[in-house]
Amino acid sequence: MQYADFENKVALITGASGGVGLSVAKKLAANGATVIINSRSPENGRQALEQLRSISQKVDFVAGDCGDYAAAVKVAEYAARINGGIDVLVIAGVRGKVRPTPFAEMSGADLVPAFESRLFARIFPVHAALPYLRVRGGAVVILGTDAARHATSGESIIGAVGAAVILMTKVLAKEFARWNIRVNSVALTLTSGTPSWDRIFGVGGDNFDAKLFGKLAQRFPWGRAPTADEVARVAVFLASSETAQVTGQTISVNGGLSFGGW
Ligand SMILES: NC(=O)c1ccc[n+]([C@@H]2O[C@H](COP(=O)([O-])OP(=O)(O)OC[C@H]3O[C@@H](n4cnc5c(N)ncnc54)[C@H](OP(=O)(O)O)[C@@H]3O)[C@@H](O)[C@H]2O)c1
Repeated sequence: MQYADFENKVALITGASGGVGLSVAKKLAANGATVIINSRSPENGRQALEQLRSISQKVDFVAGDCGDYAAAVKVAEYAARINGGIDVLVIAGVRGKVRPTPFAEMSGADLVPAFESRLFARIFPVHAALPYLRVRGGAVVILGTDAARHATSGESIIGAVGAAVILMTKVLAKEFARWNIRVNSVALTLTSGTPSWDRIFGVGGDNFDAKLFGKLAQRFPWGRAPTADEVARVAVFLASSETAQVTGQTISVNGGLSFGGW
């Protein structure tokens, strides 16, 4: 889909060296936005930028772990230096420090890092970018998980973080409306063409999550999981003025998998 409203806009996409974040970056770049992608690894960023430069020259990369507040501030400052503001913020990739694991099998030492690594990389960039989003108003889109809405074995903490994202989306939408900033989120299920998919299925297939998600992958009503591109389309739609009156919402992109539970 072509959008008219991203020309002259600055878009910051965190966790965007691959997967859904990179797909979002490609779409925004193709629609004329100045796109700054972020991830932790400069090498991953360099490779992603190469792909983006075949679409647009108005693209850049800034390294930083968004689970670290000081780093998230530097990332936001870097994006804002282009013309003083940030118009679109998409929080995409977030690497959890503990893989999906049944609660009883998690150690006490797993609990805090499992929670914090997934939550704060989604919160810090919003707080860090807020002064720049307020300059002209804009749109925030946070990628989360459908495990927030449907009980998923092995994802007690992942689901709890996802539920926090859904409520935070509503509260921020209410608080930020005065600055003309919309806040929405997208709840993902198992999604192909992503680093998460590769992590689950690329390690021999005998770990807990490969077994769990392998079964799950058979149950999509249309016979396949959503792709990164299909999720990115929804994220870009929510970032666009096509959804000018949509805020505080979470849209699940789950191919119908969760209807009726599983
Ligand atoms: N794909 C799925 O099946 C699935 C399912 C449910 C929910 N989700 C959620 O959907 C979003 C997108 O998932 P995805 O699978 O496309 O990507 P992802 O694997 O979550 O991450 C994409 C990239 O983000 C970077 N990244 C990770 N943690 C970061 C951090 N703290 N700060 C900055 N960059 C970071 C990583 O690159 P570097 O190594 O270079 O940092 C990674 O390659 C994520 O929030 C994920 O939790 C995905």
